[in-house]
Amino acid sequence: MSSNPQNLSGNEIRALFLDFYAQRGHQILPSASLVPEDPTVLLTIAGMLPFKPIFLGQRTPEFKRATTSQKCIRTNDIENVGRTKRHHTFFEMLGNFSFGDYFKEQAIAWGWELSTKVFGFSPQNLVVSVFEEDDEAFGIWRDQIGVPAARIKRMGADDNFWVSGPTGPCGPCSEIYYDFHPERGDENIDLEDDSRFIEFYNLVFMQYNRDVSGSLTPLQNQNIDTGMGLERMAQILQKVANNFETDLIFPIIQTAAQIAGLDYHSSDEKTKISLKVIGDHVRSVVHMIADEIRASNVGRGYVLRRLIRRVVRHGRLIGISGEFTTKVAETAIALSESAYPNVRRREAAIMAELQREESNFLRTLERGEKLLEEIIEGVKQQGKTAISGESAFTLYDTYGFPLELTQEIAEENHLTVDEVGFNAEMQKQVERAKAAHETIDLTVQGSLDKLAEHIHSTEFIGYTQAAATAKVEVLLVGGVSQEAAEAGTEVQIVLNTTPFYAESGGQIGDRGYISGDGILVRVEDVKKESDFFVHFGRIERGTLRVGDTVTAQIDSACRRRAQANHTATHLLQAALKKIVDNGISQAGSLVSFDRLRFDFNCPRGLTAEEVQQVEEQVNTWIAEAHSAKIEVLPLAEAKARGAVAMFGEKYGEEVRVIDFPAVSMELCGGTHVSNTAEIGVFKIISEAGVASGVRRIEAVSGPAILDYLNVRDKVVKDLCDRFKVKPEEVPERITTLQTELRNSQKQVEGLKSQLAIAKSDSLLQTSASIGEFKIIVAQLEDVDAESLKSAAERLLQKIAIGAVVLGSVPEAGKVSIVAAFSPEVNKKGLQAGKFVGAIAKICGGGGGGRPNLAQAGGKDASKLPEALETALNELRSTLS
Ligand code: ALA
Repeated sequence: MSSNPQNLSGNEIRALFLDFYAQRGHQILPSASLVPEDPTVLLTIAGMLPFKPIFLGQRTPEFKRATTSQKCIRTNDIENVGRTKRHHTFFEMLGNFSFGDYFKEQAIAWGWELSTKVFGFSPQNLVVSVFEEDDEAFGIWRDQIGVPAARIKRMGADDNFWVSGPTGPCGPCSEIYYDFHPERGDENIDLEDDSRFIEFYNLVFMQYNRDVSGSLTPLQNQNIDTGMGLERMAQILQKVANNFETDLIFPIIQTAAQIAGLDYHSSDEKTKISLKVIGDHVRSVVHMIADEIRASNVGRGYVLRRLIRRVVRHGRLIGISGEFTTKVAETAIALSESAYPNVRRREAAIMAELQREESNFLRTLERGEKLLEEIIEGVKQQGKTAISGESAFTLYDTYGFPLELTQEIAEENHLTVDEVGFNAEMQKQVERAKAAHETIDLTVQGSLDKLAEHIHSTEFIGYTQAAATAKVEVLLVGGVSQEAAEAGTEVQIVLNTTPFYAESGGQIGDRGYISGDGILVRVEDVKKESDFFVHFGRIERGTLRVGDTVTAQIDSACRRRAQANHTATHLLQAALKKIVDNGISQAGSLVSFDRLRFDFNCPRGLTAEEVQQVEEQVNTWIAEAHSAKIEVLPLAEAKARGAVAMFGEKYGEEVRVIDFPAVSMELCGGTHVSNTAEIGVFKIISEAGVASGVRRIEAVSGPAILDYLNVRDKVVKDLCDRFKVKPEEVPERITTLQTELRNSQKQVEGLKSQLAIAKSDSLLQTSASIGEFKIIVAQLEDVDAESLKSAAERLLQKIAIGAVVLGSVPEAGKVSIVAAFSPEVNKKGLQAGKFVGAIAKICGGGGGGRPNLAQAGGKDASKLPEALETALNELRSTLS
């Protein structure tokens, strides 16, 4: 064991840590998957996550002590990756854990021994922090370890009370920092100063459970949870400037730099950031795919897609044009395989996923580039100087163009981007997402976890009843449990029994009312949290209290719409299988009151004919009036009967089967019509691709058809009014108008040209004579390149012997120059092509052509007079 910090590789650091704790009775456990078992968390964010049920006393541990190197992903600071020394999405957390075994004293002693003896840090280079109220930890550090009091910092709860989320196991913690500059003295230690300090080891004294109101209840056991940042340790021990330059990441950066033809160390700051982003994100995506996450538009699949896209974009920012992610992934796999062998086992899957995502995204980017060109063209034509925030946002949102990329391209075109407008659009989207309640409400979840011990799961009676008498079990205001709430309050209510369907399986929650003595609550949404149905609503009248007996009544009209759309979704899936491909499977669905959306796996788009056939098939089944047979069966039996299940969905032992015999049989918990005839009509509105290999059909059915038709009808009526035609004549009328418009445009072009030529005739008087030669050099207003050429040719014809050079600015940021020389001028050694090319250079452009007639363009209109002046001087001196 050394007493000098030695240069250790990442693999050596990991092994030394695990060995140290193994020798002290800890079981070495493999890293858990990045996909946590805990359904409330998207990705594994800390070493303790796999042990959460043990800390909470829900699971008995096999070992009292464990040690792990846990792969983790955190994306909350994604924008900082590459900009700071130590923000990552992917990192490895080394941890030692005690489940009701050793506690504070031992954890601190071992933490110190490991840091000073194994890793050889000198005590002078170490500073520790403790939670401000934790006198015990302070005492241990000072009296038992011997750290000077000035180097033990008391910190507030933000820094030194560790929580894994809004609720859950937590406790005060103590952190060990490396001090790069002990010579700066103990007087003003500021642990936030990252030029001096880096925190590398966090010891959490895990002894409480926090509920949603913030109150702490002691856990059954006192536990230890620690986290040592492997990348940070490597930074310190390898004496490099930041985590990215350690042997854990730098080889990936070098691979990327090599592909881009760059040298990392001599690159500018922006390039370095991009390289670091690539170095970090590639590790994330390799491990995510290895842990069987696939890119998609939801949940962790979306995190993966976003990370891959960021890699591709940063690759382009540093000048890589083709596909490259699999090459950098190869380096990342080689770096990780000894510690995480599954990355090599899953290599083929990793490469395939990356390749598909990257090529799809590159195509999207190309489409975006085309769109951006059109936008720029439009902006210029309107004589504006800025791309609107809306356009920039569309590019960002639909085509994955980061704002900076749009700004860069805009700049090349002498335009700016309305950033304020862009941010406003972004904000609107954030609000839309919030309004859609798309995430699990951890606060509500937390409250319910706590209350779960006292109340029963909600009994759902809504398959057969539209109303029920129920008791208010839980009342939450802003996620916090309350005894009562008054009119005007937004509340979340849990009843013992309910007819309200809670959002699941794609079908949205019911709307309706909860009423009682003088009380009225309007229910706007219902969601399931574990086994509880949470009614989201607003108290319109009266005071609602826990324990109140109320009537819960769903809005049956809304329910009928949802039912029609839900059954129609099943029929749609059956029709797609029958008509397009039996292998089609569901990838997602949304059933709301006004429409339905069905996403399915299919490698190609549907033809118009197929779409029509599918629509007809569904309508035929509706007309045939098939009755539903709804049963609850053991899963195995349902599958044996051929019921369609959704791939990847977890089902219980007993499943509900919705069977329209000989038409469709699916496992489903949703609500349905009892006979297909109730649906009335089914209409497909669109069919399009949403992701690679996934198509989406949007459709309407049942009562919602009328709304849909009304909207369309209004548009058509409006068009008829404006064009004064019958509906069926609208398309023809538009074709006529388009033709007329095109003809008018052509006429305008023709007239412009004639006008230019006419105007140019007056230039004859300005011609200068040099011997036998006549010279005309002039600038014309707003004349396009074609007209300019005609004018020059015509003038040359009139002067017969000599040279004509004309310039014009047909639109902002564009310069046109034409030169027409007679053969006598050529004999003097002047060629129009070369001549005009040299002149156009002055305006930041170029061009050329034949010796007698040539044309060139440029960008800088302000330089045109200078360019023409040069042309005139040149002609004078050569021809005289
Ligand atoms: N769970 C603690 C952390 O993540 C060790 O910092």
